[in-house]
Amino acid sequence: MKLWEGRFDKPTAADADAFNECLSFDQKLYAADITASVAHATMLGKCGIVTEAESSEIVEGLRGVLADIRSGALRLEGAEDIHSFVENELVRRIGQVGKKLHTARSRNDQVATDMRIYVRESIDRTTELLTALVETLLKAACETVSYVMPGFTHLRKAQPVGCAQYFNAYSEMFLRDLERFSDCRARMNVMPLGSAALAGTSYPIDREITRKLLGFRSVSQNSLDAVSDRDFVAEYLFCASLTMAHLSRLCEDTILYTSDEFGYWVIPDEYSTGSSIMPQKKNPDIPELVRGKTGRVYGHLTAMLTVLKGLPLAYNKDLQEDKEAFFDAETTLHSCLSIYTALLGKLSFNVNRMYDAAGEGFSTATDVADYLAKRGVPFRDAHAITGKLVRYCIENDKTLTSLSLDEFRAVSDAFHADVLPCVTTRNSAEARASVGGSSAKAVRAGIRSIKVRLRKFLSENK
Ligand code: ARG
Repeated sequence: MKLWEGRFDKPTAADADAFNECLSFDQKLYAADITASVAHATMLGKCGIVTEAESSEIVEGLRGVLADIRSGALRLEGAEDIHSFVENELVRRIGQVGKKLHTARSRNDQVATDMRIYVRESIDRTTELLTALVETLLKAACETVSYVMPGFTHLRKAQPVGCAQYFNAYSEMFLRDLERFSDCRARMNVMPLGSAALAGTSYPIDREITRKLLGFRSVSQNSLDAVSDRDFVAEYLFCASLTMAHLSRLCEDTILYTSDEFGYWVIPDEYSTGSSIMPQKKNPDIPELVRGKTGRVYGHLTAMLTVLKGLPLAYNKDLQEDKEAFFDAETTLHSCLSIYTALLGKLSFNVNRMYDAAGEGFSTATDVADYLAKRGVPFRDAHAITGKLVRYCIENDKTLTSLSLDEFRAVSDAFHADVLPCVTTRNSAEARASVGGSSAKAVRAGIRSIKVRLRKFLSENK
């Protein structure tokens, strides 16, 4: 039965019903919907809008519906949406009194409340998954704290960096994501229930009762805004998009660094795939898929922003489009976070190959320029002298570490014997001891700092 049949002469056409229905996807909201209805019915009883006995009967009935959906005894089908489904089922079970549940409420404030409850829980799950990822990055950083790896700019070898410094870089990104989701959660934790269709309600409701029961921080202050606001969905989708951006970069690096050409890391067999034709292949399908699924989450953000654009106040059915966008983005984000964390936990490292590669491509040339500058040569001149030295190496098929002191001095007499240790890969990494730099000490401090901030975040977001 439809909740609104009374006014119509003819039944809706079957294709209109099919187009309009959303139970096929908003059924995910069943627990949130029933939880909100239990709170609403409790409040109706406490405020004398229905009797205490009626309120209890409704609450008991709703709890039965919830239990039967959970156990699988009740199949979610045969209604326009989850709200109609629950109400129809309630009335089927407890009769006339069930029809009082919708007093002082509309599906407009109901669905806005359900979505907030659902998104709030989803953020809590996202927080758990992001935390597990940062913890796994920290483990990788601890394991690799003494390993030196090539650092790139423009995907060309630039300077040696710490392998752990690299993992710490991603921890920084995901820590920001954790905070962003937490900010989004704090802002969205406002209860629309009690706004009714758009104008508020003439019943003597007490929104504080429902607010407390549902764990919201505050109640919405404008009923028109409350029923039409889906900012929190857009914001979640933005947070999810940026997290996917970070994850896709990590995946791209994983694909590159585990390739034969780079060979710094080894992708675990358990998270690789083979080729149906080329027996030798070990393909990075998992990180590739994560990289690919990023586009899908961006798509949902764009879709949601476009739904919101130019919508007149207050509620419009366009807003129903928030759900599939949100549900798919949530599922995608969660599965990507969890699969990459599993892969990362089993990643292994070609320590020597990373180290040797880090010394290639004259990656310590900056150290030579810095050496000269520290001896009083203006940096711009030091840069030019070092450039000449690199050219000499290229022309004579040499590396900076293979040069003799005489060869250095042939380019500039500002060079002395102490330039020779400056150009080794390890010393280059160790020289950068500034906060956040590549020296093992700085990297260890980085790990400690991430641990402290993660712990602080978790204790403040229990
Ligand atoms: N399925 C609707 C949505 O998701 C629920 C609210 C329907 N309200 C209405 N007036 N038709 O937005």
